[in-house]
Amino acid sequence: MTIEKAAQAAYLVAALLFILALAGLSRHESAKLGNTFGIGGMALALLATIALAIDGDLSGTALALMLAAIAIGATIGLYRAGKVEMTGMPELIALLHSFVGLAAVLVGWNGYLHADTATLDAQGLVGIHSAEVFIGVFIGAVTFTGSIVAFLKLSARINSRPLVLPGKNLLNVGALVAFVLLTVWFVIDPRLWLLIAVTAVALALGWHLVASIGGGDMPVVVSMLNSYSGWAAAASGFLLSNDLLIVTGALVGSSGAYLSYIMCKAMNRSFLSVIAGGFGIEAGPSSDTDYGEHREIQADAVAKILSTAQSVIITPGYGMAVAQAQYGVAELTRKLRERGVDVKFGIHPVAGRLPGHMNVLLAEAKVPYDVVLEMDEINDDFARTSVVLVIGANDTVNPAATDDPSSPIAGMPVLKVWEAAEVIIFKRSMASGYAGVQNPLFFRENSAMLFGDAKERVNDILRSF
Ligand code: TAP
Repeated sequence: MTIEKAAQAAYLVAALLFILALAGLSRHESAKLGNTFGIGGMALALLATIALAIDGDLSGTALALMLAAIAIGATIGLYRAGKVEMTGMPELIALLHSFVGLAAVLVGWNGYLHADTATLDAQGLVGIHSAEVFIGVFIGAVTFTGSIVAFLKLSARINSRPLVLPGKNLLNVGALVAFVLLTVWFVIDPRLWLLIAVTAVALALGWHLVASIGGGDMPVVVSMLNSYSGWAAAASGFLLSNDLLIVTGALVGSSGAYLSYIMCKAMNRSFLSVIAGGFGIEAGPSSDTDYGEHREIQADAVAKILSTAQSVIITPGYGMAVAQAQYGVAELTRKLRERGVDVKFGIHPVAGRLPGHMNVLLAEAKVPYDVVLEMDEINDDFARTSVVLVIGANDTVNPAATDDPSSPIAGMPVLKVWEAAEVIIFKRSMASGYAGVQNPLFFRENSAMLFGDAKERVNDILRSF
């Protein structure tokens, strides 16, 4: 068997491993195995690619450069993966998507500058090659700048509020029309300036699309960029005539699109509006509405309330992850259950900074699975509950989402914590949550604020028992 055939067979096996990886990642229990399949597939793909390159006319220097790139990339990847906090995962993922986008742009440019025009001409494939270059560069550049803005927003390096330029929808539509026209022109006459123009348009469009989306919709944006990065990789696969890249790119592209769709449904957002950069979403009103005074409470008073409560629901959010309060929360749950209190957890689908964030933290702290319920399973129980402990959550328990049609998070399903007899909110200040909107829950009569770091306050309550 020639190296070429062996490599094609290895690519096929790698593609199957990637499919198994996706299947494994869809459930908690099989996620580790899924990751192992993915690592195996990628290792096999790399080996096959190196073997193919050595079998071809690769010079010694090029081979050394390729191995050095793999070594440097793997070292940085291992280091970052080892160091990253759970709360920093979405921004790391966004940054990694930007690399896929950049790679697609570079592959596209290389495909243009080093095209074997004589052979393409003889085969009558110049037009198709030009279209591949153009589409690959466009998707890659949109993914690149879009992912960089997502990274900057998620890591709080820039404000997460939506950017609202005058005529923003026209700008997006204009960029798409320009892309279609330039593609036709480039296929007819592949000039360098057209490629420069489409790169610039796509870089600006990617930036604008993600900048226009507000903080509350960022989870969808991350999975949408995941999808874009898949299509960018598939476009590179066509250019490089690499079947594995096409298959893998299509897998990532379609699964990312499907995940975005599911998340949009969960958050009651229009899928098309989000992928079109917040099309139809107007800027919300400024948050200077006066909701009145908030009431403060101390840890020992909360301990007293809890000791007479019959039922307690805990709704954790991003702040629990920041404070690493899950162990104290698990201990509090154990103590309350020992006293016969009915304790349950209500998990919002986008609580924290990535899907499943809260479930992982609670499982880590050994909170029993059967008391951890999803939003839909628990939302009707709040009205029958004595006390709700909102631990480091904000947007996910904001009544404005249901009561105020002009709120930027209007329509997003939220945990109806305010229906309980008493609501205790653990947070450090009156600051807004990720979406940057004020939360009227804090000013309700049955709400009380327990200020300070969530871990310290939970420990104070445990001490007061
Ligand atoms: P947020 O709305 O971001 O609120 C978290 C709250 O925790 C803040 O109000 C903060 O208030 C408090 N906090 C921070 N550190 C704390 C600490 N050490 N001790 C006590 N409190 C602390 O969180 P959420 O309710 O979980 O909502 C998630 C938000 O993130 C949504 O807007 C969602 O769309 C967005 N998002 C989600 C994802 C996914 S997929 N889950 C991805 C990206 C973005 P203080 O500063 O006053 O303490």
